[in-house]
Amino acid sequence: MVPLIIAILLFSTCEAILLPGPKGPFHISLSNHELVDKSRKDPWNLDTIPQRRIMLSEFSPVPGDCSKTKTIPYMSPTVAGAEDNILLPYGWPAGILGNISMEFCVQPEHHKRNENFPLVLFSGGLNTTRFFYSAIAQEVAGRGFNILTLDHPFETDIVEFPDRTIAYGGHTNTSDLSSILFSLDIRSQDVSFILNKFGFKEREKAKVAMFGHSFGRAATAAAMGNDSRIRGGVNLDGLLWGPVIENGFELPGNRKFLLWGAEGHNSSSDESWGKFWSTLNKQGVWKRELSLAGERMGVFGIYRLLLM
Ligand SMILES: *[C@@H]1O[C@H](CO)[C@@H](O)[C@H](O)[C@H]1NC(C)=O
Ligand SMILES: *[C@@H]1O[C@H](CO)[C@@H](O)[C@H](O)[C@H]1NC(C)=O
Ligand SMILES: *[C@@H]1O[C@H](CO)[C@@H](O)[C@H](O)[C@H]1NC(C)=O
Ligand SMILES: *[C@@H]1O[C@H](CO)[C@@H](O)[C@H](O)[C@H]1NC(C)=O
Ligand SMILES: *[C@@H]1O[C@H](CO)[C@@H](O)[C@H](O)[C@H]1NC(C)=O
Repeated sequence: MVPLIIAILLFSTCEAILLPGPKGPFHISLSNHELVDKSRKDPWNLDTIPQRRIMLSEFSPVPGDCSKTKTIPYMSPTVAGAEDNILLPYGWPAGILGNISMEFCVQPEHHKRNENFPLVLFSGGLNTTRFFYSAIAQEVAGRGFNILTLDHPFETDIVEFPDRTIAYGGHTNTSDLSSILFSLDIRSQDVSFILNKFGFKEREKAKVAMFGHSFGRAATAAAMGNDSRIRGGVNLDGLLWGPVIENGFELPGNRKFLLWGAEGHNSSSDESWGKFWSTLNKQGVWKRELSLAGERMGVFGIYRLLLM
């Protein structure tokens, strides 16, 4: 699978590569936000500012025609260069990330978010930039969702803030369960803070869902366990960690969860899924389980999500 994608990329090495636009009915606009949580110290205690700050990309559907478009690089040169270095040992063609771009619709400067479209948060892999998920985000947004892809500074491999400061990640110790749970909880805190910032106060009115890749799949379940404003979640083929497995969801009524695994990876073959499933069962959460026939575990892996 990976060699195939690389072959596709190599096929067009000499030019800039424009990713295809969304196939759904809507054009998409993109904006990037820095959000500062004045109520919280940065939990890693590594930032140049004392408060927790995060970065996110917002992909919004644009109803109707798009009169003006612009081409935006997939990643800034700084982030692309850092990711190239990380991916190089895996046979990645250096320089390719800086050559990829996407086309978006330009919105008037002070346009308001269209709240008829549900908000969907996307949580990426551990130590992985949100920019890897721009293609999947624009594709889902094109079907009528406001999508936010999230960076979690000092856990995400590299985060570039508008003031040009850089937060390097890699601080989660993946051999240490307490470090994994610490990182997972920071993601939950970041998510709740974002929902506050976006003005979601009443749970009943919040049309919010979340899905994720790799560590982001565990983060989806954890954040739902911590924040009942997130009404729906999808776990794409991922392991689960933490108290949510035993505790399930606070205020479980009217919440929905989808486990979607490769063939053979399901709630009877995976212990963490099995436990979580029986917890949700007892709580009466609406749930479904899907298997993607003929696919192995890892099917939703980054290379597919990157260029779907
Ligand atoms: C990136 O684009 C430049 C200019 O078009 C080209 O010279 C270079 O070979 C490309 N690099 C890759 C890895 O595609
Ligand atoms: C995690 O991110 C750090 C900081 O950017 C980087 O040095 C390291 O190579 C990354 N680790 C992996 C496994 O990708
Ligand atoms: C990561 O955790 C393991 C297991 O607790 C420990 O042995 C190791 O020293 C830790 N690594 C770092 C860099 O702290
Ligand atoms: C999430 O829930 C767990 C288990 O109840 C708790 O330990 C943790 O502090 C909560 N985190 C947040 C951010 O609310
Ligand atoms: C779950 O996967 C196992 C193989 O790992 C398989 O035997 C079983 O039939 C699957 N269960 C369901 C409900 O698909």
